[in-house]
Amino acid sequence: MGKDRILELRDKLDFQRLPGHVAIIMDGNGRWARDRSLPRSAGHQEGMRRVVDIVEAANAIGIKYLSLYAFSTENWKRPKKEIDILMNILILYIKNELGKIHKNNIKIRVMGDIGPLPRLPRVEVKKAIEKTRANSGMVLNIGLNYGGRNEIVRGVKDIVRDVKLGKVDEDDIDVDLIARYLYTGDMPDPDLLIRPSGEIRVSNFMLYQIAYTEFWFSNIYWPDFTEEYLYAAIIDYQNRDRRFGGL
Ligand code: IPE
Ligand code: IPE
Ligand code: MG
Repeated sequence: MGKDRILELRDKLDFQRLPGHVAIIMDGNGRWARDRSLPRSAGHQEGMRRVVDIVEAANAIGIKYLSLYAFSTENWKRPKKEIDILMNILILYIKNELGKIHKNNIKIRVMGDIGPLPRLPRVEVKKAIEKTRANSGMVLNIGLNYGGRNEIVRGVKDIVRDVKLGKVDEDDIDVDLIARYLYTGDMPDPDLLIRPSGEIRVSNFMLYQIAYTEFWFSNIYWPDFTEEYLYAAIIDYQNRDRRFGGL
């Protein structure tokens, strides 16, 4: 798509009604590579370039929270070679982008347990969180070793602990309290969830938070997900009627 057409799409956005929180299940890297007779690693590399583009585009239009699913609790089932590639790409992404991310006042957050990650990516991720901790711009919330069910289990355990400690009264446990015990405790729920690649499922992503999220699915593979798809998804979102169960 030409630059003019992209700008034309961008101009169609209603900047007064942007989704505050956009979540993306970045999927289809492997199939993108397969279609080109390339190794899966090439798909992950190209996918990383789209992360760079989409972070920049989301920040530029004024999205406040961008959640990206990078590695799921189930992705450990993949061959070690593929996991290594994904971890190396994570390291590369932070090494290449952290300076620019910080300069753009973006705050990096991680949801998921980074404990089981190999040392090098773990160190880089911690560095990125630390460096951008005080930033006040867009929150880039990365799902790493993240699973929605695990997140709920972890939250429930923390609530039980706090009830035992007398910090939480059992009668105060409600929908909002549970939300506060999730990784996203201080973030609004996603308004828009994007999943490219043609899969029509949530694959354990933000299960609790997406109760009233608008979904946007597309057959495009993540390495092809250039900024105009983000704008197209937001334009569709802006044409939806969100009733939240009301009339
Ligand atoms: C997304 O692409 C990257 C991760 C899940 C980490 P995939 O690797 O899942 O690509 P497909 O689904 O096999 O095409
Ligand atoms: C979801 O994609 C996880 C990430 C994008 C990190 P998967 O490719 O792992 O999901 P399934 O296997 O198609 O459900
Ligand atoms: Mg996949």
